[in-house]
Amino acid sequence: MTKRVAIFGAGPSGLAQLRAFQSAQAKGADIPEVVCFEKQANWGGLWNYTWRTGLDQYGEPVHGSMYRYLWSNGPKEGLEFADYSFEEHFGKQIASYPPRAVLFDYIQGRVTKAGVRDWIRFETVVRWVEKTENGFDVTVCNLPSDRTYTEHFDNVIVATGHFSTPNMPQFEGFDSFKGRILHAHDFRDAMEFSDKNILIVGTSYSAEDIGSQLWKYGAKSITVSHRTAPMGYEWPENWKEVPLLIKVEGDTAHFKDGTQTKVDAIILCTGYKHHFPFLPDSLRLKTPNVLAADDLYKGTTYVHAPSLFYLGMQDQWFTFNMFDAQSWWVRDVIMGQISLPSHAAMLADVAERKKTEAKLEDDYACIWYQGGYTKELIDETDYPDFDIEGACQAFKEWKGHKKKNIMTFRDNSYRSVITKTMAPVHHTPWKDALDDSLDVYLKN
Ligand SMILES: Cc1cc2nc3c(=O)[nH]c(=O)nc-3n(C[C@H](O)[C@H](O)[C@H](O)COP(=O)(O)OP(=O)(O)OC[C@H]3O[C@@H](n4cnc5c(N)ncnc54)[C@H](O)[C@@H]3O)c2cc1C
Ligand SMILES: NC(=O)c1ccc[n+]([C@@H]2O[C@H](COP(=O)([O-])OP(=O)(O)OC[C@H]3O[C@@H](n4cnc5c(N)ncnc54)[C@H](OP(=O)(O)O)[C@@H]3O)[C@@H](O)[C@H]2O)c1
Repeated sequence: MTKRVAIFGAGPSGLAQLRAFQSAQAKGADIPEVVCFEKQANWGGLWNYTWRTGLDQYGEPVHGSMYRYLWSNGPKEGLEFADYSFEEHFGKQIASYPPRAVLFDYIQGRVTKAGVRDWIRFETVVRWVEKTENGFDVTVCNLPSDRTYTEHFDNVIVATGHFSTPNMPQFEGFDSFKGRILHAHDFRDAMEFSDKNILIVGTSYSAEDIGSQLWKYGAKSITVSHRTAPMGYEWPENWKEVPLLIKVEGDTAHFKDGTQTKVDAIILCTGYKHHFPFLPDSLRLKTPNVLAADDLYKGTTYVHAPSLFYLGMQDQWFTFNMFDAQSWWVRDVIMGQISLPSHAAMLADVAERKKTEAKLEDDYACIWYQGGYTKELIDETDYPDFDIEGACQAFKEWKGHKKKNIMTFRDNSYRSVITKTMAPVHHTPWKDALDDSLDVYLKN
């Protein structure tokens, strides 16, 4: 094969794509030349923790949105790789809600085994892409040497994530507030806020998890302000839910229902934007954070330029295994095993998926929808089949555990849908497990 394929980003999605090509090669296929550009010095994407916030040492926006003490917010049984189980990696079954360092180790294990690190050009940021008659001119910059160069590729796969560029609303009085105002993207260590009164804006996973961290590591009080609806869990006594923030005066936050509270710091857990500054309008995905993204045939192929692909751009119930499903499928399109239909048919596919998503009534329907999507792609490739229904059931149980007690849901365990073994109950309840290093977590 003389084709050249560029992958942007070596996070879980980009790494899944590398593994997909390597697995075809291991089976004897003639694969394209694959080059992955990663702006950080290591792989793992968001799972590659950084203490940095704002700009990095080269003046590039820091990608990382993860913080110290982050544990998986869903059971690992929902994201296990079908070709590389937790038991294969750790030599034993481990508990169900691994901390960041443990999941990072697991992600690294598969690609280290595959031997694809040499396919990645680290500390190389993608600056611009130009469509040509027969492919793409990709301009990148090697950051340490400050050298910018352009290479030609037949296909481009964008795997740069979409939980890195903050959505930052402004509220009246922010410019004169005396405390710190930050976005979840810049949150790193909950201990900074111990003994403080914290206001969180937003009600999704960042709000829930950062609030829980603050509670675990000793914040005085947590107030969560919602735009649409409260989260509605049974929170600890120093945690309250209030309507939308209207304004801040001095250190007092005022809410839509006329109530007010004094706060020391404000954390905006207001989500992220799909942001691709390296793409011209004609190639740039513009979509909200939904299950059926705009303009992507089968959730992967950019309908207006179908030699361009995007991975992991959907809202995510399923993560690592869905990125695998997408990567195996994209690989097969690029290698000619799967043919794309006409432009009209691809547009119709996007429209149909959006229509279906609009009819989904609750979170359970969304979980099964994304499970079904993942299965649809897997069925068209040689990615190992696994019990997706079992993974959906694990997510269902997980939601039940959260409703029962939001501060103990991580103390539960689930059965692997890959190896069928039951995970052990973790040795320490999550709320008491202050040291979440890999060594301590694995002491089961
Ligand atoms: C705070 C937080 C917690 C999360 N927790 C969980 C969890 O518990 N479980 C779960 O399954 N999912 C979780 N997620 C979801 C997360 O999106 C996925 O787990 C996963 O990291 C997505 O992988 P990705 O490769 O698509 O994107 P990312 O992990 O974001 O990786 C993208 C990569 O692209 C690189 N990149 C970006 N721009 C450029 C450029 N111009 N040039 C070169 N390289 C570039 C970045 O440096 C990065 O390495 C969490 C997300 C956040 C924000
Ligand atoms: N431990 C973990 O594993 C962990 C921790 C944190 C995050 N994550 C992951 O990170 C990803 C992103 O989650 P997220 O919570 O950051 O983003 P998100 O799911 O997109 O949620 C954004 C939130 O911000 C609110 N919002 C947006 N604009 C607003 C405005 N102008 N005023 C008030 N509220 C506003 C939204 O409210 P509306 O409901 O009104 O739209 C919503 O509640 C998810 O995949 C999640 O799983 C995981």
